[in-house]
Amino acid sequence: MTNDDEAHGLARGLTHYGDADFALYLRRSFIRSTGLSESLLARPVVGIAQTTSGFNNCHRGMPELLEAVKRGVLAAGGLPLDFPTISLGEVYLNPTSLMYRNLMSMDVEEMIRAQPMDAVVLLGGCDKTVPAQLMGAVSADKPAIQLVTGPMLTHRWRGQRLGACTDCRRLWADYRAGRLTAEEIAEVEGGLATTAGTCAVMGTASTMACLAEALGLSLPGTAAIPAVHAERLRAGEAAGRQAMAMIAGGLRPRQLLTAQALDNALRVLLALGGSTNAVLHLAAIAGRAGMPLSLVRLNALSDTTPVLVNLKPSGEHYMEDFFAAGGMGALLRELRPLLHLDCRDVTGRTLGERLGGPAPSVDRTVIRALAEPFEPVGGLVALHGNLAPQGAILKRSAADARLFEQEGRAVVFRSLDDLARRIDDPALEVTAADVLVLQHAGPCSPAAMPEAGYLPIPRKLAQAGVKDMLRISDARMSGTAFGTIVLHVAPDAASGGPLGLAETGDRIRMSVRERRLELLVDDAELGRRRALRPPAATPPARGYGWLHARHILQADRGCDFDFLTCAGRTGGG
Ligand code: FES
Repeated sequence: MTNDDEAHGLARGLTHYGDADFALYLRRSFIRSTGLSESLLARPVVGIAQTTSGFNNCHRGMPELLEAVKRGVLAAGGLPLDFPTISLGEVYLNPTSLMYRNLMSMDVEEMIRAQPMDAVVLLGGCDKTVPAQLMGAVSADKPAIQLVTGPMLTHRWRGQRLGACTDCRRLWADYRAGRLTAEEIAEVEGGLATTAGTCAVMGTASTMACLAEALGLSLPGTAAIPAVHAERLRAGEAAGRQAMAMIAGGLRPRQLLTAQALDNALRVLLALGGSTNAVLHLAAIAGRAGMPLSLVRLNALSDTTPVLVNLKPSGEHYMEDFFAAGGMGALLRELRPLLHLDCRDVTGRTLGERLGGPAPSVDRTVIRALAEPFEPVGGLVALHGNLAPQGAILKRSAADARLFEQEGRAVVFRSLDDLARRIDDPALEVTAADVLVLQHAGPCSPAAMPEAGYLPIPRKLAQAGVKDMLRISDARMSGTAFGTIVLHVAPDAASGGPLGLAETGDRIRMSVRERRLELLVDDAELGRRRALRPPAATPPARGYGWLHARHILQADRGCDFDFLTCAGRTGGG
């Protein structure tokens, strides 16, 4: 009797007992133990995927936000039922949170699909949670709306503003170089993260919040609202109401996630000077809808998209300033001539309709006009060459332009352990003109592509005043970090990529102008080294590590699992 395409609310997706009427009767009899009235139980169901966790301080405001979403669903005539999924607190996961993003996406997808809900609100925030939720929601393709926790507020320390986590890195570098004492860095530690919410700068969490809005998958104007602001709770209530409207309209994520919406999101990413991690996440999200993210396309858009937002780590300000300056609405308005205005968002409106009203005032110290950008070209650029046949990423907006065209001597570290052991060795032969190379930190390595691409400046150079030098790896970098750092080299060293063939003393050439990254070693010598390469490390024998080792894709495919892309293991997607 209950065809799931026609069933609604609690009658959806019945548990199999061989008798559908019995299954519905049993489900209803069990849920009545919650004390909910029959009239409430007859309503459409909005699931709320919530990710509170004692291991995720960024989500500590979520219980209040969850209540706001429930309020909105109830007010619009629905039944809100929240459910937990895996939560990923960026700094609590070993070896790195990225390894578990796909696991969380599977949890989200399967729980949306398996449980009886007509729509879902996704409550996330910390770096990997929003990509995981979007990946899962796109795969499940039920009406879905992303709601982020919002960023932290900043704190003051000795006259300086502090906000996680660009300041974490800047002040740690000062400590390493002897410019801060142990007592001072201990004081700083207590002032970097002082409210609920996600990192206070344009790191990965803030970037992904903005991109979810740019993709049309969250409510307009909600990406930048601080976590502790009353507007954040109003956004929660509005998201609950909108989820109900999406049930009525039947609007699904894959209808919103078009190639044009992906272009818009890339434009926003570039104009924000956003996180390099977002390239991975966008590739994975788009892959769930069967769209490749082309690095050639990224470069084309980067050449025609200026950086308009002056936020750390590329600039000076914090997310609360971006919100006060006009937030995503102001940025999209400036980018309007470059955007596809017929893309729709979760409200069903087109971007053109959203931006059609009168322009509110904008703080131009934070969000520049298109004609007067902070940088004339986009924040990210992809590089290709014999060192990165499938591409690599440089965040040029957070790099030193004097290092963009250079050839230097490689100083190679074979692994994270090797890096930790030797980087501060006074006997390390290294100068500021050299190129630091880290191998075996990519997706196929046991390290699983951690945010280790921000290689520290060797202590003896840091103490001599060196602040930046060219660094290359198959790892990632925190969205809050800065420097002339080439990341996501693909294929990675552990999967047999040429990065693993580089040796100390080789010459490496980077040209940002030409988008090239070359290892200046001839093919015969590279072939000789390839033949001598030691066998790959033995992968884990069981569990999630086993799954990860066998199915992880390279960075240019977003590090998704091959069987989770739109086409699955049949190829494509
Ligand atoms: Fe959670 Fe930065 S650690 S957003």
